[in-house]
Amino acid sequence: MNLDIAGRKAMVCGASQGIGRACAELLAKEGAKLVLVARNEAKLAATADAIRAEYGVDVDIVAADLARQEGRAHVLAYCNDPDILIHNGGWPETDGDFREWTHANWQQALDAMMLAPIELITGVVEGMASRKFGRIVAITSRFVKEPQLELSLSVCPRLGLTGFMSGLAREMAPHNVTLNTALPGIIATDTQYQYGRDLAAASGKSFEEIWKERSSTNAAKRFAEPSEFASLCAYLCSAQAGFITGQNILCDGGGYPGTF
Ligand SMILES: NC(=O)c1ccc[n+]([C@@H]2O[C@H](COP(=O)([O-])OP(=O)(O)OC[C@H]3O[C@@H](n4cnc5c(N)ncnc54)[C@H](OP(=O)(O)O)[C@@H]3O)[C@@H](O)[C@H]2O)c1
Repeated sequence: MNLDIAGRKAMVCGASQGIGRACAELLAKEGAKLVLVARNEAKLAATADAIRAEYGVDVDIVAADLARQEGRAHVLAYCNDPDILIHNGGWPETDGDFREWTHANWQQALDAMMLAPIELITGVVEGMASRKFGRIVAITSRFVKEPQLELSLSVCPRLGLTGFMSGLAREMAPHNVTLNTALPGIIATDTQYQYGRDLAAASGKSFEEIWKERSSTNAAKRFAEPSEFASLCAYLCSAQAGFITGQNILCDGGGYPGTF
């Protein structure tokens, strides 16, 4: 299926590796021009080189920390006219017992997962509306649909973002600007492999045992490849997806037990 986005400008955040990079590659394959954002400039430049070489599209990079207001301002000063925005990237710097979380922990989490996408969206959405095309996708988490107390630093900001996008989606729908969130289950990114190795080291189990245990948390009994999840995001960015807005769509191998 041709997504009909050749020549469109796509800003992809958290694009140097994992899910974000997989999204950037699929959009490049469709002929979109890219602006890639992450903190580590060298890694971002290497990703951009690889995508240019493979797909022959224009790829710009902006190194910035989206968890900081200055970082967001830097990104918007560099590019405030994308046709497509994929927000992806940060997560909490701590987890564990909510009784021990400080105001600074909550502020970091809100900055990384709620204020970052809200400020980027606010900076680009009016331009999208005036050009009569916009596709905004925020990557959140399956835990938005099945919150767990110990993950509240992730879940709460992401639920706040979900509420904002839901409201804005209705206002923007007449202008062919859509806003949706995509909710990953377990996706086999480098970060997940490292997390598996860390759990193995801490528990005395083998990496293979840990990976199998974690795979069994969904009906498909496996992790998804980043490209499988990115395919959902790419479709939501397509011209054809203009009638899908204000939705929160799981890609979790049947892990969520409910119908809706
Ligand atoms: N993989 C999964 O199974 C899974 C499941 C549920 C939810 N998620 C969520 O999906 C997102 C992506 O996951 P992933 O596994 O693909 O992660 P990843 O492989 O670690 O990639 C994260 C990307 O985001 C960038 N990034 C992180 N913090 C940033 C910041 N403050 N400002 C700008 N860029 C930042 C990283 O580059 P730099 O470090 O250079 O900035 C990197 O490019 C995360 O938000 C994660 O919580 C993932």
